[in-house]
Amino acid sequence: MIEKVLECFKEKFGGEGDIRSYFAPGRVNLIGEHTDYNGGHVFPCALSMGNYGVARKRDDRTVRLYNMTYPDNGVQERSLDELTPNDNGLWYDYQHGVLWAMLKAGIEIPCGYDMVMAADLPAGSGLSASASIEELAAIIVKDLNDLPIDMVDCARYGQVSENEYNGSNSGIMDQFASALGKKDHAIFLDTSDLSYEYVPLNMKAEKIVIANSKVKHNLTENSYNSYNTRRRESEEALAALKRVVDIDALGELDNEEFDKLSEYIENEVNRKRARHAVYENQRTIQAVRELRAGHLEAFGRLMNDSHISLRDDYAVSCEELDILAEEAWKLPGVIGSRMTGGGFGGCTVSIVKNENVDDFIEVLGKKYGERTGIKAEFYIADASDGARRLD
Ligand code: GLA
Repeated sequence: MIEKVLECFKEKFGGEGDIRSYFAPGRVNLIGEHTDYNGGHVFPCALSMGNYGVARKRDDRTVRLYNMTYPDNGVQERSLDELTPNDNGLWYDYQHGVLWAMLKAGIEIPCGYDMVMAADLPAGSGLSASASIEELAAIIVKDLNDLPIDMVDCARYGQVSENEYNGSNSGIMDQFASALGKKDHAIFLDTSDLSYEYVPLNMKAEKIVIANSKVKHNLTENSYNSYNTRRRESEEALAALKRVVDIDALGELDNEEFDKLSEYIENEVNRKRARHAVYENQRTIQAVRELRAGHLEAFGRLMNDSHISLRDDYAVSCEELDILAEEAWKLPGVIGSRMTGGGFGGCTVSIVKNENVDDFIEVLGKKYGERTGIKAEFYIADASDGARRLD
């Protein structure tokens, strides 16, 4: 892949000078969904699929970007001084947003760059293609200009970009996983203070299988509408609880505390949203405990519970994701299966015993096709390192 991108770079921008190669991955979240903006825990891993970029520093403040996946967009040329927030959600907006977020934080970016990129990650499928573009921008501008920032900063600027430049109120999970992923590990991240631990996946007899439903139902008003609504509902529930208990985030409560207090959330919908946020956070802590103890079956059951809670309490699943998860639960060798990412379409993640993986893909693909008329796509996830320079 990177050779193709380099070839294209030379064609577009010439082959001279210090040309460097980079990669930033997408992510799959194993458990801990819609907890990252509620001060809870998440447990994602970076994928081996993502965005590749080849770049060269310029000596002025121009940024020229070309994406081989979207040749019709041509070369996008901007000055670092003329980046303007918008919610168009185009690939270059995610690059520009990160540069804008760094400049806004007072980081000096002396020089722009020329860059060609290409993805081997399907866009719009809930595997954080946009975070991967953001972290690609972050690692490129950091490396080319020797900026005094670390990878946690890179994740933060990616989130600022999403929230303030791109108009999505997302949490930090996706950018964190893309920036800080580690081979064969998942990241147990506490989003209340960004402390994190790498947990070895140690899955020799199982594989992590991603099933892409190929649907996206989140297209009203702008593509972030339903996501931002969930975030608002969680905030309203928190505000209701704050009248009776001293907390800053739903993630501070355990299940028992929440059950005692839940009646103070008068709005029934908001109460369900908050129950998911609290229970899912506790489930995630429990799931990591089980994984560390080698109890993969228990981890899988918590994944299934997570799906049910996302379906019934948080209402971010959809018919297609339910079919993928519920049909998966019936198949031999399936340890656990759930929707992953923001929801309203996108992917499920399943843990499947090695010897059952081929049948799983065949049978689930067939069932899904029969019930929806859609051909699902499957990928075996390979937990990988985060954003990095390649040469
Ligand atoms: C999207 C957001 C993340 C997170 C997930 C849900 O991927 O970008 O911050 O909230 O949804 O867990």
